[in-house]
Amino acid sequence: MLVAILFYFVYQSVHSHIIFGIREDFSKAVPYDKPVPGIPGIRAEQCGSCHQAIYEEWKTSYHSKAYVDPFFQAYWRKDQHIWICLNCHTPMQPQQPWLIKGLEGGKVYKPIKADNPHYDADFQQEGITCASCHVRDGVIEGPYEDIQAPHPTRYAARFRTTDICFTCHQVPSGPFQFYNGGPCSTFPEFEAGPYYKRGMICQDCHMPSIERSLVSGGPVRQGRQHFWRGGHFPEMIKRAVTVQLTSDRKKFQPGEMANFTLKLTNSGAGHKIPTGDPDRYFTITFEVVNGAGKVLKLQEDTMRRWIVWWPVIIEVYENRLAPEARRDYHFQYRLPENTEGLKLRASVKYHIMTESQYKRLQTKFGLSVEVPHVFTITEEEFRLNEPIPITASAQESQSPHCNGPKG
Ligand code: HEC
Ligand code: HEC
Ligand code: HEC
Ligand code: HEC
Ligand code: HEC
Repeated sequence: MLVAILFYFVYQSVHSHIIFGIREDFSKAVPYDKPVPGIPGIRAEQCGSCHQAIYEEWKTSYHSKAYVDPFFQAYWRKDQHIWICLNCHTPMQPQQPWLIKGLEGGKVYKPIKADNPHYDADFQQEGITCASCHVRDGVIEGPYEDIQAPHPTRYAARFRTTDICFTCHQVPSGPFQFYNGGPCSTFPEFEAGPYYKRGMICQDCHMPSIERSLVSGGPVRQGRQHFWRGGHFPEMIKRAVTVQLTSDRKKFQPGEMANFTLKLTNSGAGHKIPTGDPDRYFTITFEVVNGAGKVLKLQEDTMRRWIVWWPVIIEVYENRLAPEARRDYHFQYRLPENTEGLKLRASVKYHIMTESQYKRLQTKFGLSVEVPHVFTITEEEFRLNEPIPITASAQESQSPHCNGPKG
C-alpha cells in the first residue's frame, strides 16, 4: 500500500499533463506594447489593405487557421484549454485572454493568470497572423535591408534563415518523455538530410520565391509567397512522394503466384514523411477484389511513429521515410483458376490521424464538423486476367518541386 502511494506521488511529480516540454523562446507570448506608427493597426486585414497578394495567400494557409482549426479546438478542449498552446497557435499577447505571471512550482499546468486588458477576441481568430512574424517593438521587421514604407521597418536575418520556423516547428521533449528528436522533430530530420547540405531552407519549398511588387504600384522585388502548404493539402503531399508499381511478369496464368512491388520514394520533402505532429501517418495498401467488389486479399502497411503515451511517453519504433530514401513494399497473390473480373488495387494514403482518434474527438471532445483527414495520394488499379501495365507510375516527379502549388 505504502509503495503504491509513494509510486503515485512520484508519478504525479514526473508525469506531464502535456506531451512536450517548454523552451524559453516560446514560453511567452509575443509582446505588443508599442503600436506601429503610420498604419491603422496590426490586424491581418489592415496589413492586407496595402499588401493584398500576400494577405490573400496567407488567408488560405493553415497558419491563418491555427486557432479556428477544428482539430486544434478539439485537442485544446481535451487539454483543458491549457495556456501554453496559445504561444504557438495565437502568439501575439493581445490574442490571448490571459497574462501569465508565473508558474506555481514551475509546473506548466499551474499558471498564475491575470486577465489581459488588451485581449481582442477577433484578433485571436487570426491564429498565426502577420504580426506574429513581422511586428517587434513597434517596428515591422522583414527581409530587406533598406526600404521606405509608411511604417517603420527593420531588417532581421531570421527571415532568410530557418530560425523563423524553429520556434514553433521544433517542439522539445519534456522531462520523462522519450521521443526520438522531440514530439515534433522536423529540424533534426531536415538537418540530417540532403537539402540542408545543399544550403536550402524551409522557405524554399514552403514559401516559393516570386518577383512582384509588395504594394500596388511599388517596385518589383524578389520575395516569397505566403502559402505554407503541408499535410492539409493533398497536392503538396503528392509533391513529396514518387510511387512506382511493378510486377514480376507481364501476364499471369490462372493458378500462378503473382508478385508485385510498390516502390515509394520521399522525393520531394526536406524532412521525413510524415513530419511534425506525431499523429500523422501513411498507409500502403494492396487489395485483390473480384467482379462483385468483394475484397479477397488485403495487405496494409503503415509508415509512422509508434509511441506509448502512458504512464510515460516512450517512442518505441518508427519507420518514416527520410528525404530521398526509398522503400519497397512487396505483395504476393496466388491466382485462382478463374481470374475473370479480378482486379489488383494498390494505393498510398495520408492520414492526419486514425479513425478512432477522429471518432474520439467527435464523441468526447466536441468535434462537430466533418473535417477531411484521409487523402488518397496515389491509386492504381488493373485487371489480373489481362496484360499488366507494368511499371505503371502515377507520379513522375523526380526532384523536389520548389515552385509550390499555385493556390
Ligand atoms: C498603408 C500601406 C501599408 C500598410 C497598412 C502596411 N504596409 Fe508594409 N509596406 C508598405 C510599403 C509601401 C512598403 C515598401 C514597399 C516597397 O518599397 O517595395 C512596405 C514594406 C513592408 C515590409 C518589408 C520590410 C522589410 O524591411 O523587409 C514588410 C515585411 C511589411 N511591409 C509588412 C507589413 C505588415 C506585417 C503590415 C501590417 C502589420 C503592413 N506591412 C502594413 C505599405 C504598407
Ligand atoms: C510564419 C511567419 C510569417 C507570417 C505569419 C507572415 N509572414 Fe511575411 N514573411 C515571412 C518570411 C519568412 C518572409 C521573407 C521572405 C523572403 O525571404 O523574401 C516574409 C516576407 C514578407 C514581406 C516582404 C516581401 C517578401 O515577399 O519577401 C512582406 C511585405 C510580408 N512578408 C508581409 C506579410 C503579411 C502582410 C502577412 C500577413 C497577411 C505576413 N507577411 C505573414 C514570414 C511570415
Ligand atoms: C508562431 C508559430 C509558427 C511559426 C513561426 C511558423 N509556424 Fe508553421 N505552423 C504553426 C502551427 C501552429 C501550425 C499548425 C496549424 C494547424 O494545423 O492548426 C503550422 C503549420 C505549418 C505547416 C503545415 C500546414 C498544413 O497544411 O498542414 C507548414 C508546412 C508550416 N507550418 C511551415 C512553416 C514554415 C516553413 C515556417 C517558417 C517560415 C513556419 N511554418 C513558421 C506554427 C508556426
Ligand atoms: C525539399 C522541400 C522541403 C523542404 C526543404 C522542407 N519541406 Fe516541409 N514539406 C515538404 C513537402 C513536399 C511536404 C508534404 C509532405 C507531408 O505533408 O508529409 C512537407 C510537409 C511539411 C509539414 C506538414 C507535416 C506533415 O507531415 O504533413 C510541415 C509542418 C513542414 N513540412 C515543415 C517544414 C519545416 C519546418 C522545414 C524546414 C526545417 C521544411 N518543412 C523543409 C517539402 C519540404
Ligand atoms: C512550440 C509550438 C507549439 C505549441 C506550444 C503547441 N503547438 Fe500545436 N502545432 C504546432 C505546429 C508547428 C503544428 C504543425 C505540425 C504539423 O503540421 O505536423 C501544430 C499542430 C497542431 C495540431 C494539428 C492540427 C491539424 O489540423 O492537424 C493540433 C491539434 C495541435 N497542434 C494542438 C495543440 C495543443 C492542444 C497544444 C497545447 C497542449 C499545442 N498544439 C501546442 C506548434 C505548437
